[in-house]
Amino acid sequence: MAKSEFDKFAQDYDRVLGESIPDGLNEDGYFAEYKIALMAKRLKDRQPRRILDFGCGAGRSLPHLAQYFPDAELWGFDVSQDSLNFAHERTPSAHLFSDWSIAEYVSFDAIVAANVFHHIPPDQRPLALDRCNRALAPNGIMFLFEHNPLNPATRWIFERCPFDVDAEMLSLRTALDLTKAAGFSTEQHGYTLFFPRPLAALRGFEPYLKRLPLGAQYYVQMEK
Ligand SMILES: C[S@@+](CC[C@H](N)C(=O)[O-])C[C@H]1O[C@@H](n2cnc3c(N)ncnc32)[C@H](O)[C@@H]1O
Repeated sequence: MAKSEFDKFAQDYDRVLGESIPDGLNEDGYFAEYKIALMAKRLKDRQPRRILDFGCGAGRSLPHLAQYFPDAELWGFDVSQDSLNFAHERTPSAHLFSDWSIAEYVSFDAIVAANVFHHIPPDQRPLALDRCNRALAPNGIMFLFEHNPLNPATRWIFERCPFDVDAEMLSLRTALDLTKAAGFSTEQHGYTLFFPRPLAALRGFEPYLKRLPLGAQYYVQMEK
C-alpha cells in the first residue's frame, strides 16, 4: 500500500500537535473529548450499536467514544496504516482498517469525522462524504467537525501546524454544500470549541452560542 502523508507523523502526532498549540491552550486530549461529548449529547437517547471514526488517525477520539458509548462496537478507518498502529495501542478493542472495501460489508449507526476533510483535496471530498453516506445504516447519523476559518486563533494554529502544510480549510458554507450534494436528508450545524480547558466550567453555555462564528471549530450533524 502507498505511504500516506500522515504515516510520517504517526509516531509524533501528539507531540507535534501539542507544539502547534499555545501553552495556555495545550489540549492533551481535551478538545477530542469535547467533540465526542457534543456528539453524545446530540444523539441524546439514541444508542448507536456500531460507530465509525472516519479518518481516526492515531486514535485520539477512540478512548472518548469508548467512554461515552460503552456498549457500542467501535471501528476506525484511516488511509495511514502507521497511524492505525498507534490507534490500536490506544484502543485495542477497536476494529481498525485502511482498506475501504471492508466498509462495503458493514454498516454503521453513527460516523464521526474529526478534522479529516481539510486533509482531503477539494475534488475528492464529495466521494469521501458519499462513501460515508453509503456506509451509514438507515437513519444513521454522521458528525463532521472542522476548523472554523473565521476564528483567528484557529487560523494561527493552522498556519503553524506541520500537518496542515498541504491542507485546505473548508468553511461551514462549503461543508453544508457538500452535505447537500451527498444526499443526506437533514442537517443541523453550529460552532463549537468555544471554551479551552481553563474555561471548561462554561461549556454548558455553548448551545446558546452555536450561531456565533467564533468557536474554534464547527460541526455538521447529518442524517441519512
Ligand atoms: C488531523 S488528522 C485527524 C485524526 C483524528 N480524526 C483526530 O481527530 O485526531 C487527519 C487524518 O485524516 C486522514 N485522512 C486523510 N485523507 C483521508 C481520506 N481520504 N480518508 C480517510 N482519512 C483520511 C489522515 O491520514 C489523518 O490521520
